Amino acid sequence: MKKIAVLGSSNLDLVFTTTQLPQAGETVTGQDFVMHLGGKGANQAVALQKLGADVTFFTAVGQDAFATEILTGLSATGLKVVPHRSTQPTGVAQINLYEGDNRILVIPGANHDWPASYLKRIAEQIADFDYFVLQLEIPLPVVTRLCQIIRQFPNKKIILNPAPAQVLPPELWPLVDYLTPNEHELHLLGRRGTTAELLQSSPPQIVVTKGAAGASYFDRHQQKVMTVPALANLKVVDTTGAGDTFNGAFVYQLVQGAELAAALAFANAAAGLATTKVGAQAGMPSAAAVKEAQSKHS
Ligand code: RIB
Repeated sequence: MKKIAVLGSSNLDLVFTTTQLPQAGETVTGQDFVMHLGGKGANQAVALQKLGADVTFFTAVGQDAFATEILTGLSATGLKVVPHRSTQPTGVAQINLYEGDNRILVIPGANHDWPASYLKRIAEQIADFDYFVLQLEIPLPVVTRLCQIIRQFPNKKIILNPAPAQVLPPELWPLVDYLTPNEHELHLLGRRGTTAELLQSSPPQIVVTKGAAGASYFDRHQQKVMTVPALANLKVVDTTGAGDTFNGAFVYQLVQGAELAAALAFANAAAGLATTKVGAQAGMPSAAAVKEAQSKHS
């Protein structure tokens, strides 16, 4: 089986459910509170793990109780984790669930502490992996450096989920095989053009996620933008981590050798299922569950 390395963030998600959001200077009472494992890197690694991929997760956490919670929780899923233990506090996300939508405030802490010694440790293991998955919750110069290191090895695939969106340095674009922004992020990455024009530009191959409207890509054989629909009629409870589930499932399909359209249909279905439970990782499905949902909805 091809091996995947996810290089990215870990957070402890503090999830507040409320029917009223506080205004400046106001205190309000909410309805529910729960803590979940999160962070885009951890979420994508767990999505891959739950689907049955061979995945190893590289991440930085602190030396505090949140770090223990995260490392214990991730190991319980069976995920292989190679952590850097930072002197910074573990990353934390405050998530307000309000009227079916989320508002997220992240304090990166250890996620912004990837020292040269950790990059060297990772570099020594690059040869062991085939696919590399990154996001932008670790510093952009670290992402760029990691991609440059990976590119020194032949036949490696790099998937970058540019979230949260930032302007990407010009040298990063050609290092990436697949870029997976959502529609909003696509226009914040530093290349100008309409969605269709940006999808056509390459490298990398861009796949744009559109939530309930599915995912689009430029089909180079047919020379047109194609949109793969999402699952319809789902009872959405929490969209946190849906994008991460999409990315994990998309990479899972690439590793299996799936065509782009099939990979996106599978990823859309996985992401849809993930929205039916509270918590970024709680609703992430197995491969069998995704296939069952696809056949039910087809
Ligand atoms: O993509 C969802 C994730 O974004 C949450 O788990 C939270 O930790 C933030 O990083």
